[in-house]
Amino acid sequence: MKGWRMFGKATLGIAATSLMLLVVGCGGNPDQNNNNGNTNTTTNSNGNTNTNSNGNTNTSSKALTYHKDARAILEAKCQNCHTPGNIGPFPITSFKEASQFKSAIRDSIQAHRMPPWKPDDSCNEYKDSIGMTEQERKILIDWIDQGAAEGDPTSYKKPEIPKAPEFRNDVEVKLPEPYVPKQKPDDYRCFIIDWPKKTDTYVTGYRVVADNKETAHHLIAFVIPPSLVDTFQKYDDAEEGTGYTCYGGPTGKGGGNNIGTFTKLRWVGAWAPGIDTRQFSEDGSVGIKIPAGSKIVVQMHYNVTSNDPKPDQSSIQFQVADKVEKEATIQPFADPSWVVGQTMPIPAGSVGTEHSFVTGLSSSRTVLLHGVGLHMHTRGLSASVVVERKETDDKVCAIRIKKWDFNWQNSYSLKEPIEVRPGDKVRLTCTWDNSAENQPMIGGTKAKPKDLNWGDGTHDEMCLGTLFLTYK
Ligand code: HEC
Repeated sequence: MKGWRMFGKATLGIAATSLMLLVVGCGGNPDQNNNNGNTNTTTNSNGNTNTNSNGNTNTSSKALTYHKDARAILEAKCQNCHTPGNIGPFPITSFKEASQFKSAIRDSIQAHRMPPWKPDDSCNEYKDSIGMTEQERKILIDWIDQGAAEGDPTSYKKPEIPKAPEFRNDVEVKLPEPYVPKQKPDDYRCFIIDWPKKTDTYVTGYRVVADNKETAHHLIAFVIPPSLVDTFQKYDDAEEGTGYTCYGGPTGKGGGNNIGTFTKLRWVGAWAPGIDTRQFSEDGSVGIKIPAGSKIVVQMHYNVTSNDPKPDQSSIQFQVADKVEKEATIQPFADPSWVVGQTMPIPAGSVGTEHSFVTGLSSSRTVLLHGVGLHMHTRGLSASVVVERKETDDKVCAIRIKKWDFNWQNSYSLKEPIEVRPGDKVRLTCTWDNSAENQPMIGGTKAKPKDLNWGDGTHDEMCLGTLFLTYK
């Protein structure tokens, strides 16, 4: 991806931008309640809002069973992906399936790979969490360790699954035509889509409707301002078929580090399986501006496992308004010198190389940080965004991902926005593992470690934060 920075100074309104897969939406799911009044005594130590899907479980010494204990958790935390035709590689919808895959399920839970929710819960709390509580993890692991018994179907209690936020589909845009992913295992493709509104419009929320749920792994939508529509059209025209190849971001093969282009793109939304609908605020008062004459460019990441992948024609529905109380920006955030000066070296073979950048947001106004995203490529190890208070030296963690996973990058809506006051700083920190073991597969073989620096190719890295901001 091409990355972008914050233009230090006072001006939040200037969006430098570029690509990434993260998006940020603030607003969101009604929080799920911890409805386990009567469960075992373990408290949800991370205090987050995950649904406790086993409202009535007694996990004491009695053997746990599928119907009484495991089923509701699997339904609430796995079935948004592990159903037939969905992105999860096998279904987990019955006792038979759960017991068939029990050792893989145990491993994936123990290692925190599944569900694929990456933020460190001790950092902050998020509106759309699809994570599991430690208690839920323990119940599933104990159930498997105790022999994964089926139990009595009548002991099953339906989980409370949080509803998606209410949402109005005002404007729907679709990939121009069905696209059959060509590159295995990963195809990154950008599509330019007309924006139908003839006047300036504000997007206040969106929903992604993935068409081919088996392969669609992420989507990021950017606004192309009218002045750049021709430039982007050339990227598209340079390649056959609908859309064009774009690993790092929607800049096209010739894009390189062309700052002029990238700083003028604006993010409007991002998606990964698990969270389809985002509301920027509960009452529709916060929106991102789309000027008349803009187009939308959508970057799709297809994860292709089949030899005969089906076409995809995903769409994005937008909730819009003619005006909003608060204009929001999704501000890309990185050290400009990483981008223009190549000052982010990550030596071949190194593990734990760290780069960090700190900046203020506004010298005169308090800014509200509603959501945050992170982007690195495949050698990323960990990343965080932390607000450093001027007055007290306190540090407020906005996001921390301890184990970076390129395939599951996303953006995260904070439950409570963080006030960033004049004088406060925001620090972005990334570390990398550029050892021989942690190299991507390129053309079917594992790449050899190389010296890396900022760039948008598979042999480059990034350290990019995205901040979803409004003025107080
Ligand atoms: C948001 C979608 C999503 C959710 C929710 C999800 N999975 Fe997965 N799961 C996947 C995908 C996609 C893969 C394929 C590997 C990958 O992309 O990481 C996968 C792979 C797996 C694997 C095999 C690979 C591995 O990492 O071990 C297991 C086992 C698994 N999931 C179990 C679960 C269980 C158990 C849950 C619920 C507790 C769950 N998953 C929730 C999407 C999901």
